[in-house]
Amino acid sequence: MVYYQNLLRSNNSLEDYSVNEKVISGKVIGQQIREEIQERVERLKEQGVTPGLAVIIVGDDPASHTYVRNKQKSSLAVGMKSELIELPVTVTEEELLKEIHRLNEDDTIHGILVQLPLPEHIDEDRVILTIDPAKDVDGFHPENVGKMIIGQRAFLSCTPYGIVKLLERTNTPIKGQHAVIVGRSNIVGKPMGQLLLQRDATVTYTHSRTENLAEHTKQADILIVAIGRTKFINETHIKEGAVVIDVGMNRDENGKLCGDVDYDSVYDKSGAITPVPGGVGPMTITMLLKNTLLSAEETCKQS
Ligand code: GUN
Repeated sequence: MVYYQNLLRSNNSLEDYSVNEKVISGKVIGQQIREEIQERVERLKEQGVTPGLAVIIVGDDPASHTYVRNKQKSSLAVGMKSELIELPVTVTEEELLKEIHRLNEDDTIHGILVQLPLPEHIDEDRVILTIDPAKDVDGFHPENVGKMIIGQRAFLSCTPYGIVKLLERTNTPIKGQHAVIVGRSNIVGKPMGQLLLQRDATVTYTHSRTENLAEHTKQADILIVAIGRTKFINETHIKEGAVVIDVGMNRDENGKLCGDVDYDSVYDKSGAITPVPGGVGPMTITMLLKNTLLSAEETCKQS
């Protein structure tokens, strides 16, 4: 089944989900998955386990605080326990690591997330390595990354995991398709390619130094764009009928939220496309909740 959303481009309302099969709505699909998660959380609670997510934020960057508030709100909405740890920008690395050790040992916490970026005096790699891989619901720990690459059970990085769900739930073919990734970050681009490879796509990685980018992107049946540049991809970059997934979250010259894809330019030529906002964004938080649920279910099995 395709999930319809009529994106009323005249007034940019994302509220009307009627008849437009081209727009892949993370808002709709994310909501549906969160309802499934909520049911499973209720079942766990009947067994005496409340999934718990701890979020650590360092400093007072407003955007990071907004992201973290949304994560907390969403976890509470599906019935999870949420613990927010706010540390001052002056916190030392040792103090932060001590907090992570405490959460590693806390049986009521099943997921630990340290909001990135961290202040410069703190070694991000060391912080990620300190999180118990069994509670690493971001899927950033090298143990989880390694397991993911060799196809073992692991926490998957939330944004690429959410994109796979968007493709699966809209019955978008992946097997044998040519997926082109624009962007090679550890959080999105790299794991994205691996997850699609596991599902038998042919994968090409491109990035900011790729020459003749359009020659590559025009080959894509599925184009995933995570380059962090406003409206970087336009109709000259895509093949007729391509499925375009926009991971970007930027502000245009008028301060309006927009992606890495020039939506209005690409829309007609695309076969399907994710909007910004309301596309990939809601899926990232949803998969964070899914990972926290899976972690809690795992501890239930073990006891
Ligand atoms: N900062 C921006 N996105 C993310 C994310 O997915 N996880 C964490 N921990 N920090 C982020």
